[in-house]
Amino acid sequence: SINTDYFFDEPAFNTHDGGYVPLEEPQTPQQPLRIPPLLKPDKETATDTYYTVEAQAGETQLLPGKKTKTWGYNGSLLGQTIVFPKGKTMHIDLKNSLPELTTFHWHGLNVPGPYTDGGCHAPVYPGQTRHIDFKVDQPAATLWLHAHPCPSTAEQVWRGLAGLALVTDEQEAKLPFPRNYGVDDIPLVLQDRRFHEDNQWDYNADYDPDGVQGPTPMINGTINPYFDVTTQRIRLRILDGANRREWRLHFSDDLPFTQVASDGGVMPEPVEFTHLMLTCAERAEIIVDFGKVTPGHTVTLYSDDVPLVRFRVHDFATDTTTLPEHLVDIPDPEVTPDTPIRKVVMSGMDEEVMIDGKKFEMQRIDAKQKVGNVELWDVTNTNDMDGGMVHPFHMHGTQFLVVSRNGKAPYPNEHGFKDTVGVNPGETVRLKVWFEHTGVYMYHCHIIEHEDGGMMAQIEAYDPDHPQTYKLMDMDTL
Ligand code: C2O
Ligand code: CU
Ligand code: CU
Repeated sequence: SINTDYFFDEPAFNTHDGGYVPLEEPQTPQQPLRIPPLLKPDKETATDTYYTVEAQAGETQLLPGKKTKTWGYNGSLLGQTIVFPKGKTMHIDLKNSLPELTTFHWHGLNVPGPYTDGGCHAPVYPGQTRHIDFKVDQPAATLWLHAHPCPSTAEQVWRGLAGLALVTDEQEAKLPFPRNYGVDDIPLVLQDRRFHEDNQWDYNADYDPDGVQGPTPMINGTINPYFDVTTQRIRLRILDGANRREWRLHFSDDLPFTQVASDGGVMPEPVEFTHLMLTCAERAEIIVDFGKVTPGHTVTLYSDDVPLVRFRVHDFATDTTTLPEHLVDIPDPEVTPDTPIRKVVMSGMDEEVMIDGKKFEMQRIDAKQKVGNVELWDVTNTNDMDGGMVHPFHMHGTQFLVVSRNGKAPYPNEHGFKDTVGVNPGETVRLKVWFEHTGVYMYHCHIIEHEDGGMMAQIEAYDPDHPQTYKLMDMDTL
């Protein structure tokens, strides 16, 4: 059966906020959707890949007239797409050519924190380069890279520091998914911005402690994009890369689509939808079949009633591929009555946001979990049903499983690995969490202004036989 629901609590949608900024259809000419190029390795062997990722300032032609001052990785805005083949060792130079400190956080990547994963304890000062090495050790997935210096993550992401990282593996390669990057395998980074005088962005002018929004949809750094479809099926790797906005996605004529992957990779079963809501930092890979669309027609992707991308359907070869009912096996470690249950409480809105009644402190480790041990995390959003908001809960250093929502089954697309989960007001979402690497990991609301505002904490995954100490940065030394 086809799911026609957004599932999340309608009264908590961001559309009901006092500060909600409705999206508006851009009045500028349609432009081809930008496809971020694939980042070329500096060097590659059978076992190792070397990359340089440079954070830089630049200018981007987004609207007719003046260019917009933007930031990006290996380009003026957003990033080049980085491929991480499973099993290979990556060697990456992280170069900061910006006028201020930044960090390079690999959202969703299973690497040790707090340095390799690039949270706030791994600063790269202007003009400097940090080097990281890691082995890619997780299933194929759509991950992302973004800046994470506390407390200016939100502003740096707003300026453009966000890119995609795709893990590839042999298991995914065997599935009948489109995977011709840029042709039928298309990233869609969904963001929103407000253009001020001379086509410039102004983070401070738009500031809202509940998350900065703008009325103009920006998709892969394109305003008012179209995409020329030349195959019957396309795969969209959708990322909610907005600071605050939820996207309620649907196609014209309620064209159904199939979700095949969530944040952490391919889901055990494909799930069919006509409507899909993503909260901040969530990813969904969907396959859209244009088989019933007459070439020459356009299928539009909307959020609520605002067009985001127009898919211009051209002639295509008939494609009779069907998806198997079962895609992959997901490990699901056993829990027993003795499995510890950890409670995490997200509370407040605006400047009042906290986790467990506390604001984030860089040098405070809030919790500990033995590496390899499975625990249940009960993550509660204490906001009121009436007037509260959905807080997207994100964890570094792990992909978790969603066990239940207020004791009931999770949503149909929450049976695979996730690193971010929207928690409704008054709801407790139970997660199954384990860490594979020792380290210190942040967990937080991914409304980025909430994160910067202190709705964040950190946990140490420890090995009792190998105690470690970590040099944790201090807000004041930044
Ligand atoms: Cu997407 Cu702590 O980050
Ligand atoms: Cu992250
Ligand atoms: Cu929040």
